[in-house]
Amino acid sequence: MDEAAGPGGDDTILAHLERLRAADLPVRGGRTMAYVYDAGLAGLDELAARAHAAYAGVNGLDMTAFPSVVALENDVVRQAARLLGGGPATAGTFTSGGTESCLLAVLTAREHAARTRGVTAPEIVLPQTAHAAFHKAAALFGLTPVTVPVDPGTFRADPGATAAALTDRTALVVVSAPSYAHGVVDPVPAVAAAAAERGVLCHVDACIGGWYLGHRRLAGEIPPPPPFDLAVPGVTSLSVDLHKYGYTPKGASVLLFRDAELRRHGWFAHASWPGYPVVNATLQGTKSAGPLAAAWAVLRKVGTAGYTDLARRVDGATRRLTEGIGRIEGLRVLGAPDASLVAVAAAEEGPDPFVVADEMRLRGWYLQPQPAFGPSPANVHLTVTAAVADPARIDELLAELAAAAGRARALGPATADPAVAEAAAGLDPAALGPDEVAFALDVAGVGADGALPERMAPVLAVLQALPAPLTERLLPEVVARLYTA
Ligand SMILES: Cc1ncc(COP(=O)(O)O)c(C=O)c1O
Repeated sequence: MDEAAGPGGDDTILAHLERLRAADLPVRGGRTMAYVYDAGLAGLDELAARAHAAYAGVNGLDMTAFPSVVALENDVVRQAARLLGGGPATAGTFTSGGTESCLLAVLTAREHAARTRGVTAPEIVLPQTAHAAFHKAAALFGLTPVTVPVDPGTFRADPGATAAALTDRTALVVVSAPSYAHGVVDPVPAVAAAAAERGVLCHVDACIGGWYLGHRRLAGEIPPPPPFDLAVPGVTSLSVDLHKYGYTPKGASVLLFRDAELRRHGWFAHASWPGYPVVNATLQGTKSAGPLAAAWAVLRKVGTAGYTDLARRVDGATRRLTEGIGRIEGLRVLGAPDASLVAVAAAEEGPDPFVVADEMRLRGWYLQPQPAFGPSPANVHLTVTAAVADPARIDELLAELAAAAGRARALGPATADPAVAEAAAGLDPAALGPDEVAFALDVAGVGADGALPERMAPVLAVLQALPAPLTERLLPEVVARLYTA
């Protein structure tokens, strides 16, 4: 019988959840260097949990029934606008996360292009390094993605090539501040100016780094980030996640628009059905106000001075980390990170980064493998948060990384059988049946229950050797194996 079913005391129920959690990566302590953000501030989680609980059942679907939701949202949006170059006209929307903010920015741009410029077959111009969420938006909302190569040395968008990709059908051009993969800020002023000249909207994806960069700018004595926000002429919208460097519970992002008129293009209203009249500012219908209340509480508690201090510490830690990696034999940092995200690849004769990631995992650190793509070689990604900002913690991380790199060199690279890559190149992903998919997954080392081997480098080596459309066909099948219900 399902252990979770049937009556049980509160403690039993909570203990069950705790047991399930034991298999997860830790979300606190700084050793998980992707997915999670830890301010390391005592009492912050408890405050957030209480605010979340107080609002968990409040429904943001109807702001006339729950006016407190609008009050909280106005406060949060105003704070984001003040930090990120907004003015009196700036308007915004609180969303469930970076992906929803990016989706809404694209939907808004599509509607704006259709209504104001008559664009019926819209395109979205994306530097190669733009987040996958924009490709998702293009797929969902029927825009053609136009991908533009980035500078192969800096991994920043190439302003000339990006401008040249703009056409009369372009609904939106996207720049990152910073990009997820390499943590570099695109040349926002040049791209935004080119967009403005053609009457095209320009979105700054500051989902991961906006809150951090905005506060680092306030810190004064450390080098300011390059211009990236709504103050830059031509920037028409900007997304910033609070559940990243705002250190709020998950489900919190803000999408800012240059004005309320632009924001309005992304709203959905419907009165032609027998139920309640609908106005949705986001993609959700019913939505818990828990994440909003928790974000509001955390923003209040940490405050501008607190975030500025956290940004100062993260900046110092990122510098110490990048300098230290430069001294580890066989490793190198890709590009020159502008924020707190670092991509580490192999230097000449260096170790396989995926084997380094496996070795670090065995040492209790999670670094995220990033397969080779375009000019970016295979590497591992590290998101630096305040929880590892103490110099002693960074030195501990560097020592572990040096040891992992040494061990990975001794073990040698994980390689894909060239015959597998050759055979894969001739396959049509759309034509693969269930048996062929199952065979491919078995070859890659994925268990029938979706279980992955302890060492992921060999699996990643196979995936990296496959053409992207084939990987996109296989990955969902890996995930599908995890689900038994
Ligand atoms: C630059 C950027 N944009 C968008 C997203 C998507 O955010 P989320 O994972 O909150 O949906 C991320 C996530 O890391 C990101 O780094």
